[in-house]
Amino acid sequence: MPSALAQPTSEATHRGSALAAPRAASLEFRGVAQSFAARRGRHPGTGAHDGVTHVLRDVDLALAPGEIVALLGPSGSGKSTLLRIAAGLDAPATGELLVGGAPSSGISPLCAVGFQEPRLLPWLSVHDNVALGLPKGTDKREGRAAVDRLLALVGLTHCAAYRPGEISGGMAQRASLARALARRPGVLLLDEPFGALDALTRLKMQDLLLRVHEAEPTTVLLVTHDVDEALQLADRVVVLGSEDGVPGATIQHVLDVPGERPRDRADAELARLRGTLLSTLGVDTHHH
Ligand SMILES: Nc1ncnc2c1ncn2[C@@H]1O[C@H](COP(=O)(O)OP(=O)(O)OP(=O)(O)O)[C@@H](O)[C@H]1O
Ligand SMILES: [Mg+2]
Repeated sequence: MPSALAQPTSEATHRGSALAAPRAASLEFRGVAQSFAARRGRHPGTGAHDGVTHVLRDVDLALAPGEIVALLGPSGSGKSTLLRIAAGLDAPATGELLVGGAPSSGISPLCAVGFQEPRLLPWLSVHDNVALGLPKGTDKREGRAAVDRLLALVGLTHCAAYRPGEISGGMAQRASLARALARRPGVLLLDEPFGALDALTRLKMQDLLLRVHEAEPTTVLLVTHDVDEALQLADRVVVLGSEDGVPGATIQHVLDVPGERPRDRADAELARLRGTLLSTLGVDTHHH
């Protein structure tokens, strides 16, 4: 993608702009726990104790700069809750979040978030939606150039002027990814970003994410339900889960995924890891 990799103009560099190359930042959870006030009538087994629902406990996880970590776990195990803590949208009940090695509370300028739904503003063009992600105070002309470059990176140059209602779901999701990247994030937090897409589009989006990661190296924490997606994209796969009788989910398994990306989807070792992960998640695998 030579055009997508175009260097910033010397003028932009000269001004030491907010659009300088992003520096992948580390992300660390230290002893993170999260709980919420339980609602009345909540059935047992959900971790509700003393009027409090314990969702997460003892989460210790460190992502190195540039690393891609996939977060798997059953529905309700607290994946989105952990991502919201990483994004600074919620504070943990206990424990600490470090971004770029420094304790972080509130929304960190180093982090950007992408959600399952694209969350584009329907009255703005695709271009202007992506521009919403630019850091505050970005020079107009620089901002336009950055948005154009990102649209090229995600293959949306031809529909920059369209409104969200005029593009497909996959295109909207690409626009949403471009908007997150417009922040020049050191850490990209993605909550099932391809969950709503059809299988083929999803595979294409996975390849796109890898290309983007190469072009714009950031640290990525990716929540997914898809074991194959995790194995295709991640350096490490982290599984959240809970134990019987202990309220709150924590990290149950961490798996290093071997092999350079892009990986062969038919690789035998990946197939073995797939079986391991599925049984960890409580899904029986059938051997032929
Ligand atoms: N703001 C909140 N107030 C009360 N309970 C909450 C809140 N946010 C999350 N929870 C509870 O925390 C638990 C974990 O929710 P979370 O959304 O993190 O799960 P998840 O792993 O992302 O699930 P899914 O795979 O279905 O998206 C759920 O039981 C949910 O009801
Ligand atoms: Mg979720």
